[in-house]
Amino acid sequence: MSQIERTLGLIKPDAMAQGLLGKILDQIIGAGFRIVGLKLVKLTPEQAEAFYSVHREKPFFRSLVEFMTSGPVVAFVLEKENAVAEYRALMGATDPAKAAPGTLRALFGQNVERNAVHGSDSPDNARREIAFFFAEAELLPAPTPMVV
Ligand code: RTP
Ligand code: MG
Repeated sequence: MSQIERTLGLIKPDAMAQGLLGKILDQIIGAGFRIVGLKLVKLTPEQAEAFYSVHREKPFFRSLVEFMTSGPVVAFVLEKENAVAEYRALMGATDPAKAAPGTLRALFGQNVERNAVHGSDSPDNARREIAFFFAEAELLPAPTPMVV
């Protein structure tokens, strides 16, 4: 039996600028994820650097920080069995040209940087990234079974 998990997702500035917020959320909801937190954020350079700090030595880091601060992003917390892996599968490969047909990045990404969406890559990083964007009080509690 697999575990109910939470993961952190972002709709990146390229997708926001193209008006794709509704279409992307529609795909996520249609794929059976429960949205338990949602907010619109304009990241500062310091926040973008901290969020992607694992990549600070990569050649694309400065460009990534500029891109991620170029406009608003929407941050959300998703809940589902195996949410981390399931949402990574819904997003597709980092490079939209290599992403499987029908994935969010194949549908909505432009190139390896401007790839429309982010998703946590492990349960530990999901916990860290959820705490980066959300206080516990901003997240819905787990649903309580209805008593009839
Ligand atoms: P993400 O963290 O955004 O969910 O993406 P990911 O795990 O699929 O890819 P990752 O290796 O963590 O890279 C983070 C983001 O950096 C940009 N990137 N640019 N120019 C490049 O070669 C390059 N490679 C990565 C992308 O925006 C990527 O999602
Ligand atoms: Mg990543």
